[in-house]
Amino acid sequence: MRLRRLSALVLALAAPPMAVAALVACKPASTSPSSGDAAAGDAASDASALNTLDGAALYGSLCAICHGADATGYKADNAPSLVNPTFLESVTDDQLRRSITDGRPGTSMAAYGAIRGGPLKPDAVNKVVGWIRSHGSKPISLPPRGTGDAKRGAQLYADSCERCHGTAKVRGNAVHLANPRFLEVASDEFLGWAIAKGRPGTPMEAWQGKLTDGQIDDVIAYVRAFNKPPPVELLPAPTGKEPLVINPHGQAPNFKPRSTPCPKTANQPDAAPCIPDERFVSVEQVKEALDQKRKIIIIDARPPSDWMRVHIPGAVSIPYHDTKRLEEIPNDGTWVIAYCACPHHLSGDVVDLLRKRGIKHASILDEGILEWHRRGYPVVAAPGVEAPPKEGYGLVPPSPAH
Ligand code: HEC
Ligand code: HEC
Repeated sequence: MRLRRLSALVLALAAPPMAVAALVACKPASTSPSSGDAAAGDAASDASALNTLDGAALYGSLCAICHGADATGYKADNAPSLVNPTFLESVTDDQLRRSITDGRPGTSMAAYGAIRGGPLKPDAVNKVVGWIRSHGSKPISLPPRGTGDAKRGAQLYADSCERCHGTAKVRGNAVHLANPRFLEVASDEFLGWAIAKGRPGTPMEAWQGKLTDGQIDDVIAYVRAFNKPPPVELLPAPTGKEPLVINPHGQAPNFKPRSTPCPKTANQPDAAPCIPDERFVSVEQVKEALDQKRKIIIIDARPPSDWMRVHIPGAVSIPYHDTKRLEEIPNDGTWVIAYCACPHHLSGDVVDLLRKRGIKHASILDEGILEWHRRGYPVVAAPGVEAPPKEGYGLVPPSPAH
């Protein structure tokens, strides 16, 4: 935790305007959802209806919660801008399509493509790509790159890039360049353009002039050399028939939920009003309840593609974009805990829905599944899926609540 906050601070010192957004990126779910995010929410609760929506509505119901209603990013989880001019002029439609379909496993960017267990058919992915593209230019032709030296690049990377982008293993506050799904789709020319031109209006400065062309090639060579673990096999898709209640004959858990202090909003005028309430249960308490065989329902609020990588044993997949199964949740005092990766956003939406239905004992797993996994608590995982690193910033963005 301390390191996490530290790396947020480093970013804060390096880049004041965006850092404010980064620090509040994972704001507590009590401040969400805003009405804009919830738009098209009803259609979104049915996966097949979802696919009939147009690009704007798809984006609004699935993506705005993290990338922001206007797609400029940083609404949650340090999700990057999708409409920055230097991004749109260098990213190809195919690269966008594959980024959305395959996601960035190990970060909160889930795989949204139906072939990966996500909710979107190829046609729907194309509609979202079209909507993103409508915010800027088509790809321009990018200058070719030379052959760099990864060894020289390593030093440059450590000096100039690591504080934001993290290491091969550990994500920083900015896009994880070592993610195999990123390296798969990002060409050297795309990388070179981002490094040379930066991303105007974000902490990503233009390195042209500060690094020579040769040095940029060296950094690219180093980034390319990040380990590429083979893509993991997935668990079978959820059937929707998994039993809801864990330990149906057990006693009720003794949860002591906590409320979250409201984040300062002075620097963030568009922050939703803060409503303190007691809706967070810690990972320790939930682990203890499972150990003691208490009666509980655990909901995985992420897209099913993430559940198919790793989930808490007994957790049912009820994704934020397809919440029909919430109707089956008994309103008889049974405790319901929802989690996501963020750790508060998608689960916060689901808990809001449950509370609207009059279910009072509904809370959010405070630190989210990545922290649960990091601690070595039990999980059901696909082969090859490893726990996030124990040290460092890890995969969870900083939260003012911690
Ligand atoms: C729970 C938060 C969350 C949601 C919801 C989400 N994303 Fe993301 N997205 C992220 C994060 C975080 C990253 C950066 C991942 C990394 O570090 O590699 C990302 C990365 C991306 C990228 C790659 C950008 C780049 O610079 O390479 C694209 C494209 C993208 N998201 C599109 C979408 C679309 C379209 C949707 C909706 C269908 C969506 N995302 C939903 C969090 C989210
Ligand atoms: C002060 C923090 C910071 C530093 C230092 C930094 N970056 Fe970035 N970088 C970012 C952020 C934030 C983004 C995403 C901006 C956005 O939302 O469009 C980014 C984006 C990128 C992208 C584009 C990723 C994508 O999919 O769009 C590349 C490539 C990149 N940086 C490489 C580098 C390299 C190489 C260095 C070192 C020479 C570096 N960055 C230094 C913060 C930083």
